Amino acid sequence: MEFGRFEGELASLEADLLAVGVYAGASWSDGGPAAELNDALGGLLAEVAAEEDFTGKDGQKMRLHTHGRVGASRIILVGLGETGASDGRDLASRAIRTARSLKLKSLGVVAPTGATAAQLVQGTVLGHYTYDTFKTVDVAESTIERVDFVNASGSADSVAQARAVAEAVCFARDLVNDPPIALTPVVMAQKAREIADESGLECTIFEKADLEKKGMRLILAVSAGSSEEPRLIHLTYRPDGATADTPSIALVGKGLTFDAGGLCLKPTGSIEDMKMDMGGGAAVLGAMKAVAAVAPDVVVHGIVPSSENMLGAAAYKPGDIIRSYNGKTVEVLNTDAEGRLILADALHYATELKPTEMVNLATLTGAICVALGNETVGVFGNDDDLIKEVIASSEAAGESMWHMPLDKRLRKQLKSDNADLKNVGKRWGGAITAALFLSEFVGDTTWVHLDIAGPAFADKTKDHINKGGTGVGVLSLLEYVSRAGARLG
Ligand code: BES
Ligand code: ZN
Ligand code: ZN
Repeated sequence: MEFGRFEGELASLEADLLAVGVYAGASWSDGGPAAELNDALGGLLAEVAAEEDFTGKDGQKMRLHTHGRVGASRIILVGLGETGASDGRDLASRAIRTARSLKLKSLGVVAPTGATAAQLVQGTVLGHYTYDTFKTVDVAESTIERVDFVNASGSADSVAQARAVAEAVCFARDLVNDPPIALTPVVMAQKAREIADESGLECTIFEKADLEKKGMRLILAVSAGSSEEPRLIHLTYRPDGATADTPSIALVGKGLTFDAGGLCLKPTGSIEDMKMDMGGGAAVLGAMKAVAAVAPDVVVHGIVPSSENMLGAAAYKPGDIIRSYNGKTVEVLNTDAEGRLILADALHYATELKPTEMVNLATLTGAICVALGNETVGVFGNDDDLIKEVIASSEAAGESMWHMPLDKRLRKQLKSDNADLKNVGKRWGGAITAALFLSEFVGDTTWVHLDIAGPAFADKTKDHINKGGTGVGVLSLLEYVSRAGARLG
């Protein structure tokens, strides 16, 4: 798919489809792009809009064949509702979905007021995404060869960067959508190495024997019931001229390639989508895939503990007490609360790198879905400034996050009779006790935990989100690291 810019009379743009966004209640005499095309068509757009009751309401669409009266053979008006931050992305994703389903070759997209080329590119790439890796019949091959953007602001560099970022989101989506038989921890580590080779990152993969040597017993315990070996992935990006004083950020992602729940087996109805339990790890690898293109002025570590949680004969058991990598002992009372265990070892490993800041992402609890629904990431942390910065980055990136309390009063729920900690609290506040558990392993590092269990996997396709793995987190992480140089330097 080739991207270009069109600068000229809108009516002369030649494409199979030309997409124009319309805000609710916009007038046909406001001189905007829809009005311009309406004039070129002798008022036909306004007439059809009245007949079809098209008013620009969010989600409305109206399509028209132009029969050679303007350069584009079809026009689609897309209702954008009230003005919002991601209008450019919404419009482009709706336009490309229409063009793709009509099997067209070329598309023109007119930027809504203020939309950047970067937003349009992101909407185009993300809306074009489908997951067809294992389909052999009825594969809807894309026919789209060229997309031209009109009136979009921003440089050619910003377009190339936006494309790399959006493709990294698609990469994360593929990882989440890949079935657990194909995406094992070993394969996840191989993919990480490929990313490192492509973009010149440092790469260390800890295999099972390495984890044993280092004493990462929580990762080993979680993986004990599986015939698939665990891995701990560590990628590092260093900006040109980095020194020991260059600020650094550690991104840590839960890479549970399949969560059966272990001996505390998940019931039918809760287990089917558990290939998505590596969504945090996928977001970290996605961010690392594009980090060199974004080129932040900070060192970025991407760390992913990867394991299955199964119930083979060697599986860890409720009642087991395991010594973590940082020395604290953990009584496992529920083998399904495994994410916090593999993260505990990985977070302690990350703190050893002495990062300036650390952000982890995990499909950690069902409780966060109860609290916030399926669209919003729960944000916990030990530093209000970093929490604000991560949320501000998510707003700029068009992802939804909400600050949750790391309520110390619930800490007593994690007291164990037999060990330093147990791995579960009570039912109420389950997302908070999970976050409190993680906080035991971050030392005094400035830290944020993102519980992405809700938005990591979508149950339906809408705008730039495709049903299945969403790649949530990649956009916010890349925004966050790209702003970090100026803030921490
Ligand atoms: N991977 C799950 C959390 C999850 C649930 C992710 C739904 C995505 C959608 C996690 O490992 C888990 O099983 N958590 C338990 C914790 C409980 C045993 C304390 C949960 O949320 O039920
Ligand atoms: Zn679990
Ligand atoms: Zn899990």
